[in-house]
Amino acid sequence: MSTAADLERILDARWSDLEAALKVTSSLDELARIRASYVGREGILRALFQSLSQYPAEERPTAGQLLNAAKSRWTELLEQHQRALAAQGRVAVPSLLDRTLPGHPPLIGHRHPLTQVIDEILGIFERLGFTVVEGQEIETPFYNFDALNIPADHPARETFDTFFLNSAGPDAYLLRSHTSPMQVRYLQAHSPPFRIVVPGRVFRPDAVDASHCFQFHQIEGLVVEPEVTLADLKGVLTAVARAVFGPTVRMRFRPHFFPFTEPSAEVDISCIFCRGHGCPVCRQRGWLEILGAGMVHPHVFAAADRPPTTRGLAFGLGIERIAMLKYGIDDIRLFFENDVRFLHQF
Ligand code: PHE
Repeated sequence: MSTAADLERILDARWSDLEAALKVTSSLDELARIRASYVGREGILRALFQSLSQYPAEERPTAGQLLNAAKSRWTELLEQHQRALAAQGRVAVPSLLDRTLPGHPPLIGHRHPLTQVIDEILGIFERLGFTVVEGQEIETPFYNFDALNIPADHPARETFDTFFLNSAGPDAYLLRSHTSPMQVRYLQAHSPPFRIVVPGRVFRPDAVDASHCFQFHQIEGLVVEPEVTLADLKGVLTAVARAVFGPTVRMRFRPHFFPFTEPSAEVDISCIFCRGHGCPVCRQRGWLEILGAGMVHPHVFAAADRPPTTRGLAFGLGIERIAMLKYGIDDIRLFFENDVRFLHQF
């Protein structure tokens, strides 16, 4: 017959075993096995409870208390150990989490290629003393046409015809067909002398193909200074073209017509692909057109209430064309389709 005193000795010995076992246990799997063998359904404690019936009746209450006390001590010890393991971070399951694998880098966007070209060109102008200002995409016929010496019946109006937002008429609103309206707006609001560049989006009802789109970007330039001449126009544009395309690029000023400049010119650079020898990009001409320019027409100054003695030069360059040349892009639609596989290359 066992006695409660025997039981106490047994429990003490098992307690020491349990402590010793836990000391060398560092994984949750092992801990679970130990828990099962001590307090589980097939475990030591359960077997001892089952042997209670073998105790003399008067010993049973004490033996029962010993067993209950042991149960809570053992369980508490096992739980403590589990918490300690978790805190040490040794519970990670290596097969699921490999800390040596490279991580997933976060996707970081970047500036659109057109924005990059615009910023680069604006930076060049800023170093030449120009101020960057922005106009508005929705304009009135007055600023888009009339103030720029393009009266209602002028044939030049047709080539610039644009999207009207309501019925055409004196109160109409339209999407600007060029950034030139800002010449007049700025002249009305600021006293010369000044040098400004105006980046922005413009709209024309052009059928879309590889080199045309109903929207594109321009940078307008306007210098109004007492002594400014055509030589300054050539000097500024040459400096900018060389900064963008390289110091060996040559310039060609072809006489042209714009209602709002006199004289007017279209400006070409020597083909940056064949250096002027002739290739498919320049269609064997050796030259690539990049902008329109001229000396501001007196009617434009009059529309802005500036005296006829005012002198100025103006130019407007197309951003898409410059970006296409710079990066060798052969289709203007790529800029607006926003396919990240394209955009990420720049
Ligand atoms: N606004 C003209 C265009 O869109 C370009 C230009 C600007 C020409 C300024 C001369 C002076 O074609």
